[in-house]
Amino acid sequence: MIKPRLLILTLALAAGISMTAQEPATLKDAYHGAFYVGVAINADQITGKDARGTKIVTEQFSSITPENALKWERVHPQPDTYDFSLPDQYVTLGEKHHMFIVGHTLVWHQQTPAWVFQDAQGKPISREALLKRLHDHIFTVVGRYKGRIQSWDVVNEALNDDGTLRNSKWKQILGDDYLIKAYQWAHEADPSAELNYNDYSLELPAKRQGAMKLIQKLQAAGIKVAVVGIQGHDSLDWPSLASEEETIDTLSKLGVKIAITELDIDVLPAVGANPTADISLHIKSNPKLNPYPNELPDAMQKQLARRYADLFGTFLKHRDVMSRVTLWGVTDADSWRNDWPVVGRTSYPLLWDRAGKPKPAYEAVIKASR
Ligand code: G3I
Repeated sequence: MIKPRLLILTLALAAGISMTAQEPATLKDAYHGAFYVGVAINADQITGKDARGTKIVTEQFSSITPENALKWERVHPQPDTYDFSLPDQYVTLGEKHHMFIVGHTLVWHQQTPAWVFQDAQGKPISREALLKRLHDHIFTVVGRYKGRIQSWDVVNEALNDDGTLRNSKWKQILGDDYLIKAYQWAHEADPSAELNYNDYSLELPAKRQGAMKLIQKLQAAGIKVAVVGIQGHDSLDWPSLASEEETIDTLSKLGVKIAITELDIDVLPAVGANPTADISLHIKSNPKLNPYPNELPDAMQKQLARRYADLFGTFLKHRDVMSRVTLWGVTDADSWRNDWPVVGRTSYPLLWDRAGKPKPAYEAVIKASR
Protein backbone atom coordinates (compact mmCIF):
# COMPACT_ATOMS: atom_id res chain seq x y z
CA MET A 1 0.00 0.00 0.00
CA ILE A 2 1.31 3.50 -0.86
CA LYS A 3 1.96 5.65 2.27
CA PRO A 4 -0.01 8.95 2.56
CA ARG A 5 3.12 11.19 2.53
CA LEU A 6 4.50 9.38 -0.48
CA LEU A 7 1.13 9.66 -2.18
CA ILE A 8 1.05 13.43 -1.61
CA LEU A 9 4.63 13.73 -2.87
CA THR A 10 3.83 11.64 -5.96
CA LEU A 11 0.73 13.71 -6.71
CA ALA A 12 2.64 16.94 -6.14
CA LEU A 13 5.43 15.85 -8.46
CA ALA A 14 2.90 14.78 -11.06
CA ALA A 15 1.32 18.22 -10.81
CA GLY A 16 4.76 19.83 -11.29
CA ILE A 17 4.95 21.15 -7.72
CA SER A 18 8.31 20.71 -6.03
CA MET A 19 8.15 19.89 -2.34
CA THR A 20 10.84 19.63 0.27
CA ALA A 21 10.12 18.19 3.68
CA GLN A 22 11.09 21.21 5.82
CA GLU A 23 10.93 24.09 3.33
CA PRO A 24 10.71 27.23 5.50
CA ALA A 25 7.64 29.23 4.61
CA THR A 26 8.89 32.74 5.32
CA LEU A 27 12.07 34.80 5.27
CA LYS A 28 11.97 35.31 9.03
CA ASP A 29 11.68 31.56 9.64
CA ALA A 30 14.36 30.77 7.12
CA TYR A 31 16.93 32.98 8.90
CA HIS A 32 15.64 32.53 12.43
CA GLY A 33 18.58 32.09 14.76
CA ALA A 34 21.00 33.69 12.27
CA PHE A 35 19.84 37.32 11.98
CA TYR A 36 16.67 39.40 11.69
CA VAL A 37 15.32 39.83 8.17
CA GLY A 38 13.89 43.31 7.93
CA VAL A 39 12.14 45.58 5.47
CA ALA A 40 11.71 49.32 5.01
CA ILE A 41 8.05 50.27 4.98
CA ASN A 42 6.24 53.29 3.56
CA ALA A 43 3.23 55.25 4.82
CA ASP A 44 0.63 53.03 3.11
CA GLN A 45 2.17 49.91 4.63
CA ILE A 46 2.31 51.52 8.07
CA THR A 47 -1.37 52.50 7.97
CA GLY A 48 -2.55 49.33 6.23
CA LYS A 49 -3.90 51.26 3.21
CA ASP A 50 -1.64 48.98 1.15
CA ALA A 51 -3.18 45.85 2.70
CA ARG A 52 -1.29 43.53 0.36
CA GLY A 53 2.04 45.13 1.30
CA THR A 54 1.30 45.15 5.03
CA LYS A 55 0.42 41.45 4.87
CA ILE A 56 3.78 40.63 3.26
CA VAL A 57 5.58 42.74 5.90
CA THR A 58 3.90 41.13 8.89
CA GLU A 59 4.05 37.57 7.58
CA GLN A 60 7.56 37.53 6.18
CA PHE A 61 9.76 39.87 8.20
CA SER A 62 11.11 40.01 11.75
CA SER A 63 12.19 43.67 11.67
CA ILE A 64 10.98 46.97 10.21
CA THR A 65 12.56 50.32 9.34
CA PRO A 66 10.48 53.40 8.40
CA GLU A 67 11.51 54.36 4.87
CA ASN A 68 10.70 58.04 5.47
CA ALA A 69 8.35 58.47 8.45
CA LEU A 70 11.00 59.32 11.06
CA LYS A 71 13.15 61.64 8.96
CA TRP A 72 13.51 65.13 10.43
CA GLU A 73 11.41 66.89 7.74
CA ARG A 74 8.51 64.50 8.39
CA VAL A 75 8.53 64.24 12.14
CA HIS A 76 9.68 67.78 12.96
CA PRO A 77 8.70 69.99 10.01
CA GLN A 78 8.55 73.31 11.90
CA PRO A 79 10.49 74.57 14.93
CA ASP A 80 7.63 73.94 17.35
CA THR A 81 5.76 71.25 15.46
CA TYR A 82 6.30 67.56 15.81
CA ASP A 83 4.06 65.15 13.89
CA PHE A 84 4.09 61.73 15.46
CA SER A 85 0.90 60.39 13.87
CA LEU A 86 2.64 58.08 11.39
CA PRO A 87 5.62 57.10 13.59
CA ASP A 88 3.20 56.16 16.40
CA GLN A 89 1.38 53.79 14.03
CA TYR A 90 4.72 52.45 12.81
CA VAL A 91 5.86 51.52 16.31
CA THR A 92 2.46 50.05 17.21
CA LEU A 93 2.56 47.85 14.10
CA GLY A 94 6.02 46.56 14.99
CA GLU A 95 5.01 45.80 18.58
CA LYS A 96 1.81 44.06 17.54
CA HIS A 97 3.82 41.68 15.35
CA HIS A 98 6.78 41.32 17.74
CA MET A 99 9.20 42.81 15.28
CA PHE A 100 12.61 44.35 15.94
CA ILE A 101 11.90 48.05 15.45
CA VAL A 102 14.46 50.38 13.88
CA GLY A 103 14.48 54.19 13.99
CA HIS A 104 15.79 55.92 10.85
CA THR A 105 17.30 58.52 11.18
CA LEU A 106 18.26 61.32 13.60
CA VAL A 107 21.10 63.21 11.89
CA TRP A 108 21.41 63.39 8.11
CA HIS A 109 22.50 66.00 5.60
CA GLN A 110 19.33 65.29 3.56
CA GLN A 111 15.65 65.74 4.41
CA THR A 112 16.44 68.17 7.19
CA PRO A 113 14.43 71.38 6.78
CA ALA A 114 16.35 74.60 6.07
CA TRP A 115 14.99 76.23 9.24
CA VAL A 116 17.04 73.88 11.41
CA PHE A 117 20.23 75.71 10.42
CA GLN A 118 18.82 79.25 10.18
CA ASP A 119 17.47 82.03 12.33
CA ALA A 120 14.23 83.90 11.61
CA GLN A 121 16.10 86.12 9.11
CA GLY A 122 17.49 83.12 7.22
CA LYS A 123 21.04 83.62 8.59
CA PRO A 124 23.10 80.63 9.81
CA ILE A 125 22.60 80.06 13.53
CA SER A 126 25.37 79.74 16.11
CA ARG A 127 26.91 76.46 17.26
CA GLU A 128 25.15 76.81 20.65
CA ALA A 129 21.76 77.37 19.02
CA LEU A 130 22.15 74.39 16.68
CA LEU A 131 23.37 72.16 19.51
CA LYS A 132 20.22 73.05 21.42
CA ARG A 133 18.00 72.19 18.42
CA LEU A 134 19.78 68.87 17.91
CA HIS A 135 19.56 68.07 21.63
CA ASP A 136 15.85 68.86 21.76
CA HIS A 137 15.09 66.89 18.59
CA ILE A 138 16.91 63.79 19.81
CA PHE A 139 15.39 63.88 23.30
CA THR A 140 11.89 64.47 21.95
CA VAL A 141 11.97 61.78 19.24
CA VAL A 142 14.09 59.09 20.92
CA GLY A 143 12.47 59.85 24.30
CA ARG A 144 8.98 59.34 22.91
CA TYR A 145 9.80 55.78 21.85
CA LYS A 146 12.05 54.92 24.79
CA GLY A 147 12.11 51.15 25.26
CA ARG A 148 10.03 50.67 22.09
CA ILE A 149 12.35 51.52 19.19
CA GLN A 150 15.19 49.08 19.79
CA SER A 151 17.74 50.38 17.33
CA TRP A 152 18.51 53.91 16.09
CA ASP A 153 20.40 55.03 13.00
CA VAL A 154 21.81 58.00 14.90
CA VAL A 155 23.99 59.46 12.15
CA ASN A 156 23.41 58.63 8.51
CA GLU A 157 25.91 59.08 5.67
CA ALA A 158 28.42 61.38 7.40
CA LEU A 159 31.27 60.36 5.08
CA ASN A 160 32.41 61.22 1.57
CA ASP A 161 33.48 58.36 -0.68
CA ASP A 162 37.14 59.22 -0.03
CA GLY A 163 36.59 58.61 3.69
CA THR A 164 36.71 62.26 4.78
CA LEU A 165 33.92 63.80 6.80
CA ARG A 166 31.18 65.25 4.58
CA ASN A 167 31.06 69.04 4.72
CA SER A 168 27.40 69.09 5.76
CA LYS A 169 25.66 71.94 7.56
CA TRP A 170 26.08 69.86 10.72
CA LYS A 171 29.86 69.84 10.31
CA GLN A 172 30.02 73.47 9.14
CA ILE A 173 28.19 74.84 12.14
CA LEU A 174 29.02 72.33 14.87
CA GLY A 175 32.48 71.14 13.84
CA ASP A 176 33.71 67.55 13.48
CA ASP A 177 32.50 66.58 16.95
CA TYR A 178 28.81 66.81 16.11
CA LEU A 179 28.65 63.03 15.91
CA ILE A 180 29.86 62.64 19.50
CA LYS A 181 27.07 64.89 20.76
CA ALA A 182 24.42 63.09 18.73
CA TYR A 183 25.41 59.66 20.06
CA GLN A 184 25.75 60.88 23.65
CA TRP A 185 22.28 62.41 23.60
CA ALA A 186 20.68 59.43 21.87
CA HIS A 187 22.14 57.20 24.57
CA GLU A 188 20.93 59.48 27.37
CA ALA A 189 17.46 59.65 25.82
CA ASP A 190 17.18 55.84 25.72
CA PRO A 191 20.04 53.91 27.35
CA SER A 192 18.50 50.61 26.26
CA ALA A 193 18.50 51.39 22.52
CA GLU A 194 21.32 50.11 20.33
CA LEU A 195 22.97 52.91 18.38
CA ASN A 196 24.03 52.53 14.76
CA TYR A 197 26.23 54.32 12.27
CA ASN A 198 24.74 53.87 8.78
CA ASP A 199 26.34 54.59 5.39
CA TYR A 200 26.52 53.46 1.77
CA SER A 201 29.51 52.25 -0.32
CA LEU A 202 31.47 51.13 2.75
CA GLU A 203 32.87 48.46 0.44
CA LEU A 204 35.05 51.19 -1.14
CA PRO A 205 38.39 50.82 0.70
CA ALA A 206 38.88 54.55 1.34
CA LYS A 207 35.36 55.00 2.67
CA ARG A 208 35.69 51.91 4.84
CA GLN A 209 38.93 53.31 6.31
CA GLY A 210 37.10 56.56 7.02
CA ALA A 211 34.29 54.67 8.74
CA MET A 212 36.77 52.78 10.88
CA LYS A 213 38.45 56.01 11.99
CA LEU A 214 35.08 57.56 12.73
CA ILE A 215 33.93 54.59 14.86
CA GLN A 216 37.27 54.51 16.70
CA LYS A 217 36.96 58.21 17.43
CA LEU A 218 33.49 57.67 18.86
CA GLN A 219 34.71 54.72 20.91
CA ALA A 220 37.61 56.81 22.25
CA ALA A 221 35.00 59.34 23.42
CA GLY A 222 33.31 56.58 25.44
CA ILE A 223 30.45 55.93 23.01
CA LYS A 224 29.20 52.45 22.32
CA VAL A 225 28.36 52.15 18.64
CA ALA A 226 26.54 48.82 18.64
CA VAL A 227 26.07 48.36 14.92
CA VAL A 228 27.61 49.57 11.68
CA GLY A 229 25.00 49.58 8.93
CA ILE A 230 26.25 48.74 5.46
CA GLN A 231 23.36 50.05 3.36
CA GLY A 232 23.64 47.61 0.45
CA HIS A 233 22.34 49.58 -2.53
CA ASP A 234 24.01 47.04 -4.77
CA SER A 235 24.04 45.96 -8.41
CA LEU A 236 24.50 42.61 -10.13
CA ASP A 237 28.27 43.01 -10.14
CA TRP A 238 29.03 45.45 -7.32
CA PRO A 239 30.26 44.91 -4.67
CA SER A 240 32.18 41.69 -5.25
CA LEU A 241 31.51 39.00 -2.67
CA ALA A 242 35.17 39.23 -1.66
CA SER A 243 34.92 42.94 -0.89
CA GLU A 244 31.63 42.43 0.94
CA GLU A 245 33.31 39.83 3.13
CA GLU A 246 36.32 42.04 3.70
CA THR A 247 34.04 44.92 4.70
CA ILE A 248 32.10 42.77 7.17
CA ASP A 249 35.32 41.29 8.60
CA THR A 250 37.21 44.55 8.95
CA LEU A 251 34.39 46.55 10.48
CA SER A 252 33.32 43.82 12.88
CA LYS A 253 36.87 43.71 14.30
CA LEU A 254 36.04 47.07 15.89
CA GLY A 255 33.77 45.18 18.27
CA VAL A 256 30.54 46.21 16.55
CA LYS A 257 27.83 44.08 14.99
CA ILE A 258 27.10 44.47 11.29
CA ALA A 259 23.70 45.06 9.72
CA ILE A 260 22.84 45.26 6.05
CA THR A 261 20.35 48.07 6.39
CA GLU A 262 19.00 49.01 2.95
CA LEU A 263 19.50 46.08 0.60
CA ASP A 264 18.30 46.31 -3.00
CA ILE A 265 19.96 45.10 -6.20
CA ASP A 266 19.83 47.14 -9.38
CA VAL A 267 19.53 45.25 -12.68
CA LEU A 268 19.23 48.34 -14.89
CA PRO A 269 22.09 49.96 -16.83
CA ALA A 270 24.42 51.86 -14.53
CA VAL A 271 24.93 55.57 -14.93
CA GLY A 272 28.20 57.01 -13.77
CA ALA A 273 31.31 55.10 -12.86
CA ASN A 274 30.96 54.89 -9.10
CA PRO A 275 28.44 53.07 -6.94
CA THR A 276 26.54 55.53 -4.77
CA ALA A 277 23.23 56.23 -3.08
CA ASP A 278 23.53 60.00 -3.30
CA ILE A 279 19.92 61.10 -3.64
CA SER A 280 20.85 64.47 -5.15
CA LEU A 281 21.46 62.73 -8.53
CA HIS A 282 18.63 63.19 -11.07
CA ILE A 283 19.16 61.97 -14.63
CA LYS A 284 16.52 62.06 -17.40
CA SER A 285 15.35 58.67 -18.63
CA ASN A 286 15.61 57.36 -22.19
CA PRO A 287 14.76 53.92 -23.71
CA LYS A 288 18.38 52.74 -23.48
CA LEU A 289 18.44 53.41 -19.75
CA ASN A 290 15.02 51.80 -19.26
CA PRO A 291 15.31 48.47 -21.12
CA TYR A 292 12.50 46.54 -19.38
CA PRO A 293 9.49 48.87 -19.22
CA ASN A 294 7.00 45.97 -19.11
CA GLU A 295 8.64 42.97 -17.48
CA LEU A 296 12.00 41.56 -16.49
CA PRO A 297 13.16 38.79 -18.89
CA ASP A 298 13.63 35.33 -17.37
CA ALA A 299 17.38 35.38 -17.87
CA MET A 300 17.61 38.57 -15.81
CA GLN A 301 15.29 37.16 -13.13
CA LYS A 302 17.72 34.26 -12.83
CA GLN A 303 20.74 36.54 -12.57
CA LEU A 304 19.02 38.58 -9.88
CA ALA A 305 18.07 35.41 -7.99
CA ARG A 306 21.64 34.12 -8.13
CA ARG A 307 23.00 37.45 -6.90
CA TYR A 308 20.56 37.57 -3.97
CA ALA A 309 21.44 33.97 -3.07
CA ASP A 310 25.18 34.73 -3.22
CA LEU A 311 24.81 37.77 -0.98
CA PHE A 312 22.60 36.01 1.57
CA GLY A 313 25.06 33.08 1.51
CA THR A 314 27.81 35.54 2.40
CA PHE A 315 25.76 37.12 5.19
CA LEU A 316 24.98 33.69 6.58
CA LYS A 317 28.65 32.75 6.55
CA HIS A 318 29.19 35.75 8.86
CA ARG A 319 26.14 35.15 11.03
CA ASP A 320 28.21 35.44 14.22
CA VAL A 321 28.58 39.20 13.59
CA MET A 322 25.44 39.91 11.54
CA SER A 323 22.51 41.31 13.47
CA ARG A 324 20.09 42.06 10.64
CA VAL A 325 19.57 42.15 6.88
CA THR A 326 16.93 44.68 5.82
CA LEU A 327 15.45 45.01 2.33
CA TRP A 328 14.81 48.60 1.20
CA GLY A 329 11.18 48.16 0.22
CA VAL A 330 8.53 45.46 -0.19
CA THR A 331 7.63 45.20 -3.90
CA ASP A 332 9.41 46.54 -6.97
CA ALA A 333 6.63 49.13 -7.31
CA ASP A 334 7.57 50.60 -3.91
CA SER A 335 11.27 51.06 -4.62
CA TRP A 336 13.01 54.46 -4.66
CA ARG A 337 15.04 52.93 -7.52
CA ASN A 338 12.19 53.64 -9.94
CA ASP A 339 13.16 57.29 -9.68
CA TRP A 340 16.83 57.21 -8.88
CA PRO A 341 19.35 57.96 -10.27
CA VAL A 342 17.22 58.12 -13.42
CA VAL A 343 13.72 59.51 -13.10
CA GLY A 344 10.82 57.29 -14.22
CA ARG A 345 12.48 53.91 -14.90
CA THR A 346 10.89 50.52 -14.30
CA SER A 347 13.18 48.94 -11.76
CA TYR A 348 13.30 45.40 -10.35
CA PRO A 349 15.50 45.49 -7.26
CA LEU A 350 13.42 43.66 -4.63
CA LEU A 351 11.95 40.23 -3.82
CA TRP A 352 8.27 40.81 -4.73
CA ASP A 353 7.06 41.95 -8.16
CA ARG A 354 4.59 44.71 -8.97
CA ALA A 355 1.66 42.31 -8.65
CA GLY A 356 2.77 41.40 -5.12
CA LYS A 357 4.02 37.96 -6.21
CA PRO A 358 7.29 36.58 -4.85
CA LYS A 359 9.98 36.58 -7.53
CA PRO A 360 12.51 33.81 -8.23
CA ALA A 361 14.90 35.91 -6.12
CA TYR A 362 12.62 35.34 -3.12
CA GLU A 363 12.79 31.56 -3.55
CA ALA A 364 16.56 31.83 -3.98
CA VAL A 365 16.93 33.72 -0.68
CA ILE A 366 14.86 31.09 1.13
CA LYS A 367 16.95 28.31 -0.42
CA ALA A 368 20.21 30.06 0.48
CA SER A 369 19.29 29.70 4.17
CA ARG A 370 19.73 25.94 4.03
O1 G3I B 1 5.28 61.75 -0.22
C1 G3I B 1 5.59 62.78 -1.17
C2 G3I B 1 4.41 63.02 -2.10
O2 G3I B 1 3.33 63.52 -1.33
C3 G3I B 1 4.83 64.02 -3.18
O3 G3I B 1 3.79 64.15 -4.10
C4 G3I B 1 6.06 63.50 -3.91
C5 G3I B 1 6.58 64.48 -4.96
O4 G3I B 1 7.98 64.56 -4.99
O5 G3I B 1 7.10 63.31 -2.97
C6 G3I B 1 6.77 62.34 -1.99
O6 G3I B 1 7.86 62.22 -1.13
C7 G3I B 1 9.00 61.56 -1.62
C8 G3I B 1 9.26 60.36 -0.72
O7 G3I B 1 10.47 59.77 -1.07
C9 G3I B 1 8.15 59.31 -0.76
O8 G3I B 1 8.07 58.74 -2.03
C10 G3I B 1 10.16 62.53 -1.56
O9 G3I B 1 9.98 63.56 -2.50
C11 G3I B 1 11.45 61.81 -1.82
O10 G3I B 1 12.54 62.70 -1.60
C12 G3I B 1 11.57 60.62 -0.88
O11 G3I B 1 12.71 59.91 -1.20
C13 G3I B 1 13.23 59.08 -0.19
C14 G3I B 1 14.72 59.42 -0.02
O12 G3I B 1 15.32 58.51 0.88
C15 G3I B 1 14.90 60.81 0.56
O13 G3I B 1 14.38 60.89 1.85
C16 G3I B 1 13.04 57.65 -0.59
O14 G3I B 1 11.66 57.32 -0.54
C17 G3I B 1 13.81 56.72 0.36
O15 G3I B 1 13.80 55.40 -0.14
C18 G3I B 1 15.27 57.18 0.45
O16 G3I B 1 15.93 56.37 1.41
C19 G3I B 1 17.33 56.61 1.59
C20 G3I B 1 17.67 56.35 3.03
O17 G3I B 1 16.84 57.10 3.88
C21 G3I B 1 19.15 56.63 3.32
N1 G3I B 1 20.01 55.92 2.40
C22 G3I B 1 19.70 56.06 0.97
C23 G3I B 1 18.23 55.69 0.75
C24 G3I B 1 17.91 55.73 -0.73
O18 G3I B 1 18.00 57.03 -1.19
